[in-house]
Order: sequence, then C-alpha cells, then structure tokens
Amino acid sequence: MRAAELSFGKGEVTLAKFGQVALPEGAVRDGEVVDVAAVAEALKQLWAHTKFTSKKVVIGVANQKVIVRQVDLPWLPEDELHESLAFQVQDFVPMPVEHAVLDFYTLEESVNDAGARMVRGLLVAASREMVLNAVHAVQKAGLVPMMVDLSSFAVLRSLARTDHLGMGSEVEALVDVGARVTNIVVHQGGVPRFIRILLMGGQDLTDAVADRMGVSPAQAEAMKQELGLVDSAAAMDAQAAVRVIDSAAASFVDEVRGSLDYYMASSGSSQISRLLLTGGGGRLAGLAQRLETATRIPVEHGNPLAALSLGRTGLSPEQIQFVEPLAVVPVGLALGAVS
Ligand SMILES: Nc1ncnc2c1ncn2[C@@H]1O[C@H](COP(=O)(O)OP(=O)(O)O)[C@@H](O)[C@H]1O
Ligand SMILES: [Mg+2]
Repeated sequence: MRAAELSFGKGEVTLAKFGQVALPEGAVRDGEVVDVAAVAEALKQLWAHTKFTSKKVVIGVANQKVIVRQVDLPWLPEDELHESLAFQVQDFVPMPVEHAVLDFYTLEESVNDAGARMVRGLLVAASREMVLNAVHAVQKAGLVPMMVDLSSFAVLRSLARTDHLGMGSEVEALVDVGARVTNIVVHQGGVPRFIRILLMGGQDLTDAVADRMGVSPAQAEAMKQELGLVDSAAAMDAQAAVRVIDSAAASFVDEVRGSLDYYMASSGSSQISRLLLTGGGGRLAGLAQRLETATRIPVEHGNPLAALSLGRTGLSPEQIQFVEPLAVVPVGLALGAVS
C-alpha cells in the first residue's frame, strides 16, 4: 500500500512525501479491502513511518467491483444528468444500481440519427460496499477520506501532459501494470478516450511460475524478476521457467493489444503515437519490447515525478528512481485533490 503527499505552490507541485508499507496477507484481495481493521492498522503505520503532515486522503479504487464503460445518454444539464443516472444506466451496469456508486464523465456531445441531442461519456459504477470498506479503513486509521477516485483517472493525471485544446494533441496510451490489476488509459491531451481496468498483472506471471514449476511464491517471484522475457529464439531451448514466464506474458500482451485494437476500431480514428509503461509489473525485463512488437507502438517508461519538484522526502536518489514507476497512482490521486 502506498501514498504520496504533494504540496501546491505558485505554478509548482512538490512531492513532499512518499511511503509504502506491506499489507498483511489477506487484508486486501484483488484490489479490494477485505479486512478493514488490518488495513487501518497498516495505514497508521504508513502515516507514522512516512511522517505525512496531512490527514486528508484521496482513495483510489481498481478491482473487479468497479467498471467503466463508454455510454451515450440523452442530453441533460450536468446536475440533472447526475441525478438521473440511476434510472438511465441499469442496462450498462453488472450489479443492481441501488448497490452501486455511479459517476459520469462527459466526453462529448452529439446528435443521434433521430436528431436528439446526446451526450457521450464514461460511466463509472462501483460497488457501494467495496467503496465503503475502503472509506471505513481510512476513517478507522484516524484519517479523513476526501474523495474516492478511479485509479485509471489517477494514472491519467499523473502521466498525461494536459493540453486544454485537446484535439491538437497526439493520442497516447498509458499502461500501468500492478500486481493484479492493470490500468489502460488512452487519452488525447489529457482527455480520456478509452479506459480499461484489466484484471491481470505481474502476480499472474508469478502464479504461473509457482504453479507450473512447483516452487514457492517467493521463489517464483525471484525467478520471474531474474529471468524476465528472453527473446523468442533464445527461449526455444531455454529452461522451462523461461517458457512459463513467456507464455503468461504473451497472454498479458495479447490483452493489452486487444484493448488498444478495440479502441482504434471503435474510435475509427487516430493512430496511438506512444505507449507509456509504468507500475511494478512494467519492470519485467523485455516487456516493453514485447509490447512494442505486438502493438507496433513505440513504448517508453513513464515517469510521474518528471513534472514535480522534489521536497524533503527523505528518499535517496536511488530510492526515488525505484519508486518512480510505483508512484503513478498515488501521485495522480493527490493531484486530483485540487482539480
Ligand atoms: N524487477 C521486476 N521485474 C518483474 N516484475 C516486477 C519487478 N518488480 C516488481 N515487479 C512486479 O510488479 C508487481 C507489483 O506492481 P505494483 O505497481 O507495485 O502493484 P500494485 O500497484 O498492484 O500494488 C508485482 O507483480 C511484482 O512481481
Ligand atoms: Mg502500481
């Protein structure tokens, strides 16, 4: 579990503090808080260790109990649209709307074939219970939840250079690979065009190694990190573990490519000019090259700290470099506190 504290000065945002703690086994499962007390305890430790000065928290969610979908709805003034969401969106939401927290992010207005004014946007629906468990953990730790946000939006804020004119900018894909969840965001000048929460990540590769090689999770993790992805010719006669990692990674790469293909087909538009890879899972040696080959999009590693100045974080330059790919979501959440 991680958190970042930012301070906002004149035209400048500073990373004041960044910290992380390991969660006890079973406290969070697949991105969902299952043991509120254990998570609260870990949050207290995180605050004590990192010496955050603020108690205000923006919570990020990304798991199988939150969905984001592009929908077209009849046009209404913004506030009425929000009020009417529950009546309008049941067909798009895989849970009873009365059990969901709903939000709508407007993308563009249009007129349909019948001449009716429509609004196209991203519908976010999250299980109320899942959200409340996270909120309660934060409260139980003596902290103050200010907002709950989709981690995908945090990724966007953290990595996208905003161009308020939007349309002139190139289309870019952001892929933040976590342990169990990968956020895929396609945007143009900071305006989201496509979002997918992929329920796959680095842990799936580790699980595959543990399973197929009959080694412990810790050994599997070490093997994965050490071996990484070898180019396919070499993999032919390499050790079995290499082939296991390779095939698990291939499924992952397929999913990412599938999402981007889907975006390009449905938008019928702009080529994606660049893919920014982040997250701990993005560290897998050779993954960037695999993605580049599969998608034919140039892949670079994204850095959420590039646009920030560094405060007295207490972290060494080496530590800063290590946390860079891991700071995407926390930094983006904190950035959302002011927007
Ligand atoms: N050097 C590395 N090589 C390959 N995978 C790595 C490396 N370092 C971390 N990972 C993987 O990154 C994943 C965790 O990424 P992280 O962004 O910390 O996850 P989350 O955001 O879900 O907490 C784990 O699956 C871990 O195996
Ligand atoms: Mg991450």
